[in-house]
Amino acid sequence: MLKYVIKGPNKGAIGSVNIEGAKNSCLPLLASSILFQDSIELTNAPMVSDVLTMCNLLEVLGSKVIISEKKKSIKVINKNKHKLIVPYKLISTMRAGVLLMGALLGRYPKDKISCARPGGCSLGERPTNFSIDGFKHLGAQYNLKNGYTNLIAKNGLVGNTYKFPKVSVTGTSNMILASVFAKNTTTLRNVSREPEVLDLINFLNASANYKFIYFKGYRTIQINSIKKLTKGSHQIIGDRIEAFSYLCVGAITRGKVKVNNVNPKHLPKELEILKKMGCKIKIDNFSIGIDAKRKLKPVSIKSAPWPKFATDNLPILIAVLTTIDGKSKVEENVFSQRFQCVPELKRMVASIKIKKNTATIIGKKLLSAECICSDLRTAFAIILGAIAATGTSKIFRVYHSKRGYYQLPKKLKKLGINIKAIS
Ligand code: EPU
Repeated sequence: MLKYVIKGPNKGAIGSVNIEGAKNSCLPLLASSILFQDSIELTNAPMVSDVLTMCNLLEVLGSKVIISEKKKSIKVINKNKHKLIVPYKLISTMRAGVLLMGALLGRYPKDKISCARPGGCSLGERPTNFSIDGFKHLGAQYNLKNGYTNLIAKNGLVGNTYKFPKVSVTGTSNMILASVFAKNTTTLRNVSREPEVLDLINFLNASANYKFIYFKGYRTIQINSIKKLTKGSHQIIGDRIEAFSYLCVGAITRGKVKVNNVNPKHLPKELEILKKMGCKIKIDNFSIGIDAKRKLKPVSIKSAPWPKFATDNLPILIAVLTTIDGKSKVEENVFSQRFQCVPELKRMVASIKIKKNTATIIGKKLLSAECICSDLRTAFAIILGAIAATGTSKIFRVYHSKRGYYQLPKKLKKLGINIKAIS
């Protein structure tokens, strides 16, 4: 099985990295293809395994999917009615498959939709109750049988008001997808404002040639019903999490790295924190440069929905903080198990103590170790630790990293990192 071997310490990473399109934009955009009678084309599409799994799911449902890795484009063509069963086999490997529930219900409300329930995941329990409650508010009936969520709105969906109990990215996108053709008007309160949700809204509005989905308040969206969607094309925004990951390669090696093809406005809190740590940050319209060639300072940070610090970036920052002299504090407020990188970084002698949802980190020099990845962002955190650690680290189960990072070893090598991918 593929593993990464990293020889460290790697110091002064230098160079630039081109960031892929955002995985977490591409997944709901692909799900939205179900709503279209003809086709959609996405450009700047990341060729990562989660995206390919979603393409597979669409094919299972009857869409034709044409992927060009060279052009970074995905075309989804709908000629026939979709199948309305989302099977367990594929959805069990990727939670974002639940977005197909909203899209199928939105397009075929009067037919029975069956979607296998996704399991928990390594980040903790990840329920879908907000989507289900929201669909019920639109008039759908729901039951759970043989592990499948069944949905039907015999009289069609009718717009209503739904308030999310907690900000949810997938919940918001799922409800948008379900509401597009629902009669009258739908109002969603306490919604996610993550750039990826805005990307979906922008795409749907542009495809309808009409701004039918819009913000009425800071966390309130109104959706005015439309009759149909025919064709759409869209360039996906750059991946802010991948961008932060490579900026942290600059930080942990005290180097100078530039990331291209990302909107700096999508990382407000992250850039503020890097500056607080003493890094010099230079931004352009679509690039960010980090200069960390200096002594860095410890920080305290809490994760929260956008525009605050992203939960996905927390393990990545933790890895950097393990190498910075002094005491840092990191508080996780979204998932129950975001600290899975901690036992792995501790193998590299990192000093981290966890109490409830807070990790206290005392910076020191890391030593190489053999480590196992348990989820996507943990994988990058471990890689960062190995980059800084003295000696040769071996990293196993790196398939987790492929879910969201395209050509990771190649991009790291370009920055001067001593990494080998060995099968
Ligand atoms: N929640 C519920 N019920 C729901 C939905 C969510 O209780 O029905 C809770 C969750 O348990 C969590 C919080 O609400 O405590 C927020 O979860 P959210 O729904 O926002 O997460 P998600 O949509 O499942 C997306 C990203 C994650 C990212 C989170 C938070 C995609 C495909 N995934 O997940 O990305 O961590 O938002 O920003 O967009 C990743 O890329 O590795 C990844 C895990």
